[in-house]
Amino acid sequence: METSKIERVLASALREGALSGVNDDGPALCVFYDLDDLRAGFREVQRVFPQGALHTTAVKANGLPAILKEAKRFGLGAESASLGELVHALELGFEPSNILFDSPAKTRSEIELALSRGVILNVDNFQEVERIAQALGKVKSNAIVGMRVNPQVGAGTIASTSTATSTSKFGITLDEHRDAIFDAFAKYPWLRGLHVHVGSQGCGLDLLVRGARRAVDLALALRGRGHTIDILDIGGGLSVDYAGGDAPPAFAEYASMLREHVPEIFDGTFRIATEFGRALHAKTGWVASRVEYTKSAGGRRIAVTHAGAELFVRAVYQPDKWAHRITIHDATGALKSGPAAPWDIAGPLCFSGDLIAVGRELPAIEPGDFVVVHDAGAYTLSMWSRYNSRLVPAVYGYEGSALHLMKAAETTEDLIRFWS
Ligand code: LLP
Repeated sequence: METSKIERVLASALREGALSGVNDDGPALCVFYDLDDLRAGFREVQRVFPQGALHTTAVKANGLPAILKEAKRFGLGAESASLGELVHALELGFEPSNILFDSPAKTRSEIELALSRGVILNVDNFQEVERIAQALGKVKSNAIVGMRVNPQVGAGTIASTSTATSTSKFGITLDEHRDAIFDAFAKYPWLRGLHVHVGSQGCGLDLLVRGARRAVDLALALRGRGHTIDILDIGGGLSVDYAGGDAPPAFAEYASMLREHVPEIFDGTFRIATEFGRALHAKTGWVASRVEYTKSAGGRRIAVTHAGAELFVRAVYQPDKWAHRITIHDATGALKSGPAAPWDIAGPLCFSGDLIAVGRELPAIEPGDFVVVHDAGAYTLSMWSRYNSRLVPAVYGYEGSALHLMKAAETTEDLIRFWS
């Protein structure tokens, strides 16, 4: 997202008091979403994959009702990975047959709910297969049940978000359990889908394509034995370039590699599903936080802000892998420039590691300036931490630079209700 656009939005947010105004004593932290960029992503994913595919947005990446409703309006479904996400998607009116339920720890009652509503379930392990068989004795359902297999194509550059190594906790390891997979499909005709998800961020396109290839090969082999495959879910996992500029995620490049190496995805052999989160959302959001104080400690320059690990826990525990771009804006919203020096950008939380940037070359920072953290639309607010009881910030959406409130800031009364 270009900075000039951010400058315009920030200036109108300041005029409208969205950031409590520089002279007010409010906790000046806001999250902004660019609805034009969001819609462009929804259109792009539909453009590059075959018609009739079920594209879902991963609720874990961005669960804001306004954003999910926009996805629904564009014909997308929802990928849910917990009871909360599932109920949220159902309440927002997503068609159950457009909802995927991927939790690796589904309880009996969660399974019964999903089956009775006709949600697509992806089973994570063989014990869950048996649990579903029992549930189907009680609940009449023609929900599609798919099996999540781990295609064992290896890890990307970030271990904690890679899910296709041979020891990953997700899904059924394909090479290890191949015979048992075939046995399960033979025993249970309601198993009618396959699911792979190779990882999130740091998994190159080649890895994602290899995962899809293995899923298609397995699906063809299952069909060859007379089993039905109604849906082939290739997961999400398309990375974004946090350090890079405004280039949008590479949906088209991914699709063209798939077209070359896994043509069955495009020629109608299977109905496919996707579950993108980060690539749909990361580049559509950013965060503005007022600098409360600046100080120096042991020769380091530190700017104390309201944006820390409660929003950017990744940047804190793996700063080399998840460095979000940061720009500094003055109290009117204008981009600051001038000679750069190394700055630590500190969050408000009570631990020393709460630094969203360390030694970052930035122009001189003063109290009242704004730190803007870019590419913050995915896995930020949805990973909000309750540590130190910070209040969840206000969220604004904008089109052009017209702002509207998507979610009011949490109040101390809301917080007390949370803890009670
Ligand atoms: N499908 C499944 C089964 C997943 O587990 C995930 C992400 C997705 C789809 C969406 O992947 P995406 O397209 O967003 O890469 N805590 C991390 C993110 C973990 C992602 C977990 N699963 C973070 O801090 O960014």
